[in-house]
Amino acid sequence: MSPDRLRAAVAGRTVLVTGASEGIGAVTARRLAAAGAVVLLVARTASRLEQVRDEIVAGGGVAYVHPADLSVPAEAAALAEELLTRYRRIDVVVNNAGRSIRRAVADTADRFHDLERTINLNYLGPAQLLLVLLSGMRTTGGGHVVNVSTAGLAINAPHWSAYHASKAAFDTWLRTAAAELRHDDVTVSTVYCNLVRTRMLAPTAHYRRAPAMSADEAAGIVCRAVARPRIWWPWWARLGGGGGHAAPRGGAGARRGATGGGGDRTGTGHGRRGPSAAGPAGAVGAGWPPPRAYPRHGGRRRVADGGRRDR
Ligand SMILES: NC(=O)c1ccc[n+]([C@@H]2O[C@H](COP(=O)([O-])OP(=O)(O)OC[C@H]3O[C@@H](n4cnc5c(N)ncnc54)[C@H](OP(=O)(O)O)[C@@H]3O)[C@@H](O)[C@H]2O)c1
Repeated sequence: MSPDRLRAAVAGRTVLVTGASEGIGAVTARRLAAAGAVVLLVARTASRLEQVRDEIVAGGGVAYVHPADLSVPAEAAALAEELLTRYRRIDVVVNNAGRSIRRAVADTADRFHDLERTINLNYLGPAQLLLVLLSGMRTTGGGHVVNVSTAGLAINAPHWSAYHASKAAFDTWLRTAAAELRHDDVTVSTVYCNLVRTRMLAPTAHYRRAPAMSADEAAGIVCRAVARPRIWWPWWARLGGGGGHAAPRGGAGARRGATGGGGDRTGTGHGRRGPSAAGPAGAVGAGWPPPRAYPRHGGRRRVADGGRRDR
């Protein structure tokens, strides 16, 4: 996308980027700010956020730092309240902060916290953040939510169960909410990223030589989605056509320890070469690929019979 087109779409708009201290989020924030957006930077590490902000400001842009641990829903809610009070209007939310864990189920017996850690940051925290921010968008005339997800959802690749389940949970929540959000003029976009060479991937020896996008390339796709709402996934995920409901056959890599399963590895389970890059026995997941557009029907905001709403 040309800088001019990005500028036309975001100049003067307030864009919140979570996970803006590193990787895809940091590059996305810099690009959006360079195109004239006012960028709100969120992650845990204040010093890294300040570095990103200082680079943006040195380049003539505008950015503000808001450190928060989004894996704690109460902290996410408090952050959202603070942002609404301070900025009144947030036009775009790039939901990018994330955590991945690569571990065999057999090695997770005494590590239930793997599931809790991934679900907290990849689903519950951002959902809580959005619940508050969406109430703001509702009163300010709408907005746009851009979710950075993983194309690994197309593949039931061994060792990624906790991570993929947590990314799928948020993906399903947002996809389901999309029809309702339309009524409030809130648009939803999702970018299902390939393998991206970032800090997240670094500890995973398995993927050291796998083809991967750069953070710059991934941020380019995210920025295109910010400028023009879309659902993006890589070519190989499209090939599945939603046909594969089968579980992956247990290849060598699926067996405990076959790829050195055990340590807390971070990274993602997908690569440019296609499903095979994510694991030896990938199968296209149920319901894949996701629709090209979110549904327009349904999701009436008011209950038709004026009926009671659960509190
Ligand atoms: N890398 C890949 O191969 C790949 C592929 C597909 C999708 N993705 C998705 O892309 C997104 C960005 O990943 P990345 O590769 O850029 O990872 P990264 O370089 O590790 O960056 C992750 C970002 O999330 C922030 N973060 C982590 N825990 C947080 C918490 N509890 N609260 C607030 N912020 C937190 C980190 O900052 P702090 O540590 O300072 O909090 C950092 O800014 C993730 O959602 C990931 O699932 C990545």
